[in-house]
Amino acid sequence: MNFSFRRVFGTLLLSLVLVFCCSIAFAGHHGEKSESKKGILLVAFGSSMTETQGSFTNIETLVKKAFPKVPVRWAWSSAIIREKVAKEQGKIIASPAEALAQMMAEGFTDVAVQSLHTIPGEEYEGIKETAESFEGMPKGISHISIGKPLLYSNDDMKVTTAALLKAAATERKADEALVLMGHGTHHYGNIYYPALQYFMDLQDGKTFVGTVEGAPSLDDVKARLEKMGAKKVWLMPFMSVAGDHARNDMAGPEADSWKSELTKDGYDCGVILKGTAEFDAIANIWVDHLKEAWKALD
Ligand code: CO
Repeated sequence: MNFSFRRVFGTLLLSLVLVFCCSIAFAGHHGEKSESKKGILLVAFGSSMTETQGSFTNIETLVKKAFPKVPVRWAWSSAIIREKVAKEQGKIIASPAEALAQMMAEGFTDVAVQSLHTIPGEEYEGIKETAESFEGMPKGISHISIGKPLLYSNDDMKVTTAALLKAAATERKADEALVLMGHGTHHYGNIYYPALQYFMDLQDGKTFVGTVEGAPSLDDVKARLEKMGAKKVWLMPFMSVAGDHARNDMAGPEADSWKSELTKDGYDCGVILKGTAEFDAIANIWVDHLKEAWKALD
């Protein structure tokens, strides 16, 4: 075959395949118009600690309240956590791809996939790509819409800042310092953490954002605490669950936990050991993003 013949042949073959696939997709059940079946898939990073269940339960309760009668499914995006939980607790949790394949098999035509992640980083991009690859498969899910993580737009920054301050106010007095421990990442989405600091500075001059794996660091936080002349410091995770990082890296008894380091520096430390998804004011921001994704299905 010469080049142009091969190209024409290839195009013809592709057209045939497409016509074949489309006729399957549009034929329905022997010509009947198929009904739409809508569902929600919530995707969290996951957690190996059973103490974090409250975060997942709270989000699910709020989602079911906002979407009565709509089936709600779960998936965890972390393969390591899924494996750990299967091994240690015998709990099998679907990956985003497994959950979507299952929903596809059950005949769901429209699915809103809500990311329960904090920033648009690696995890969010992963589930977005996975979900998009399921859209429009022959005999599959016709429409998939992806809900944004907690922080995405400028408006999210303002609303989340206010909600975090409100959540911390259950323990913290206004003149006391508040340190938020974010996860942080090598992904460029890490920029949301310094951005959160900017919005905190506008709404509250005594709240400082640090991360475990990105920037700002604990040293950055220490510099701000010193400049402020803080005495009492509240530590709170800026993660959807108060899991391993919150309980060990933030509040644990080891010498290198944030609590131990700040106590050693002379601060009187208090701990708010709750994930952000346990506070309705914050969890509802995810629910609002889900409402947007749901609307986008129509
Ligand atoms: Co981590």
